[in-house]
Amino acid sequence: MNIAVIGGDGTGPEVVAEGMKVLQAVSKKVGFKYTTKEFDLSGDRYLAAGGNPDAPSIPVVSDAEIAELRAYDAIYLGAVGHPKIAPGILEKGLLLRLRFELDQYINLRPVKLYPGVYTPLKDKEPKDIDFVVVRENTEGIYTGMGGVQYKGTQQEVSTQVNCTTRFGAERAIRYAFEFCRRRNSSKKMLTLVHKTNVLTFAGDTWYRAFMEIGKEYPDIKKDYNHVDACCMWFVKNPEYYDVIVTDNIFGDIITDLAAMIQGGLGVAAGGNINPAGVSMYEPMGGSAPKYTGQNVINPIAAIAAMGMLLRNTGVHKNDSKLIQAGDMVEKAVMATTQKMKSQAAGKMGYSTTEVGDLVAAALA
Ligand code: IPM
Ligand code: MN
Repeated sequence: MNIAVIGGDGTGPEVVAEGMKVLQAVSKKVGFKYTTKEFDLSGDRYLAAGGNPDAPSIPVVSDAEIAELRAYDAIYLGAVGHPKIAPGILEKGLLLRLRFELDQYINLRPVKLYPGVYTPLKDKEPKDIDFVVVRENTEGIYTGMGGVQYKGTQQEVSTQVNCTTRFGAERAIRYAFEFCRRRNSSKKMLTLVHKTNVLTFAGDTWYRAFMEIGKEYPDIKKDYNHVDACCMWFVKNPEYYDVIVTDNIFGDIITDLAAMIQGGLGVAAGGNINPAGVSMYEPMGGSAPKYTGQNVINPIAAIAAMGMLLRNTGVHKNDSKLIQAGDMVEKAVMATTQKMKSQAAGKMGYSTTEVGDLVAAALA
């Protein structure tokens, strides 16, 4: 297995280093070989190359680098975001560009409360918070379609198009049904989340695609929630959910809420998946400039992302050793969270590198 590693900005390289530590440990344990190559794709590099911090100027990632990344089995990403660079430049220039160009059309976000992790939801336990959000990752309002007219005047008009295609909805829905079928849960229910009562065009495309494709999955219960109600249920009855499928922006928003109920950005991991191409795994948290270089950031999310990388690469390549390795990493993470005082940066009771050591040791 060949892995491209992008540490990125801020605390990204620190948490990625712990994920690599765990990768090395689990590969010895299970017995598989891998190679890695680091790609310096970061805000610092952009600035050093003369990039304008206030507006997109030079490419954050070159066409040649994207071509090179295509050849890997997986990409492991730390964090994107730099305090000296205006919002949007790195996000669009690196993260969204990779998602779009590598056609990573699924954003997979498991929401699982690990043992010993604090949830702000009173009376909820690990058995109550265990579901997965399948977010469409290449369409919706993320495409950049639209524009602004009469900018800076009283007549300013801006549009941001919610580009929804049957093709895009359909492949996300299909992935979600397949994922739900594979998942080891007794609920076997897929919930479509949208806003069909207001977005009567895009919502309808999703809804009809969901119901039509759903006929091919008689073993899976079909369920629908409006996105606002879904937020309510996340807090009130998270145990209701099994797998959720939703569009890009709704998925973005509900997975931050979901990250909080599973213990925060220190533990939440995600995968940008192209089932037929190269997928990219990342901790959900940002670059955390204020904690950078202090060895206090929580690497659990990045390590869990490595677990996902192994498991999913195993599923897509039909390699049982990688699946086993992914499952072992998750178990080791669950053993480690029980020993930590908190999942918040600086309050873990351990340093970043010590948490990585604990997970590596728990594999043995
Ligand atoms: C995420 C992030 C990104 C998104 C940003 C950084 C562009 O919030 O991965 O959820 O909106 O998708
Ligand atoms: Mn987000």
